[in-house]
Amino acid sequence: MKHLSVIIDGNGRWAEKRGLPRKDGHAEGAKALCKAIEDFVTIDADILSVYAFSTENEKRDKEEVANLFGIMAYFFRNEIYRLAENYSLKLRFIGDFRRLPDILSDVMSDIGAKTINNKGKTVVFAVGYGGDEEICSAFDRILKKRMFLMDASPIRKEELYENLYTVGLPLPDAVLRYGGYRRLSNFLPVQTAYSELFFIDKLWPDYDKEDFEKVIDEFSHIKRNFGGNNG
Ligand code: IPE
Ligand code: IPE
Ligand code: MG
Repeated sequence: MKHLSVIIDGNGRWAEKRGLPRKDGHAEGAKALCKAIEDFVTIDADILSVYAFSTENEKRDKEEVANLFGIMAYFFRNEIYRLAENYSLKLRFIGDFRRLPDILSDVMSDIGAKTINNKGKTVVFAVGYGGDEEICSAFDRILKKRMFLMDASPIRKEELYENLYTVGLPLPDAVLRYGGYRRLSNFLPVQTAYSELFFIDKLWPDYDKEDFEKVIDEFSHIKRNFGGNNG
């Protein structure tokens, strides 16, 4: 497949089950993510996208949000950048970065810029991402361009896609969600319209390469119709 998406859920429960603070679950989740990125290099997928922090996650208590931002900034700057250099990965970030602290958004723009010409696979991180916010931001951009041109013609689908954060990326072929819930939680609502959905009960820090391999294998047996004949 071209594009595999992962919703990494269950860090908090992983920690609570062990009597640990939730931040320890997020740190363990970040380690699992590094392992997952290394495994991704060897599997049959060109793009891995990861839902790391949603606009709704801002509702969590201040301490947890601050811990998450700190862990992400540390892992992006160090471990994930190192992996990108080792495997020539392109790192790309999607979301509304204005809602993130500078310490995090600066690292993201720095490592995004440093890896843009790498020749290997692409890893996309959704940080400060919300699907409804993405659609609003696309409309904002379309509106601003059109006001300048005095253009009130109907918006074309292509125009919408060109103004989403994911411009230039193929749509996710499959979405794999960890943590037991069967929902997308505002992740790429437009782009996942025809994605194959996989749900796994295990918590994200318990990630294993086999999880990805199973999805790749199951996906290869699915006949996709995109609304056409099932012939
Ligand atoms: C996923 O783990 C990480 C983020 C959403 C940032 P959670 O923190 O949601 O873990 P649970 O779902 O509470 O166990
Ligand atoms: C999904 O996990 C979002 C991310 C992984 C960033 P949540 O824990 O935020 O999802 P809900 O709240 O259970 O739907
Ligand atoms: Mg959760």
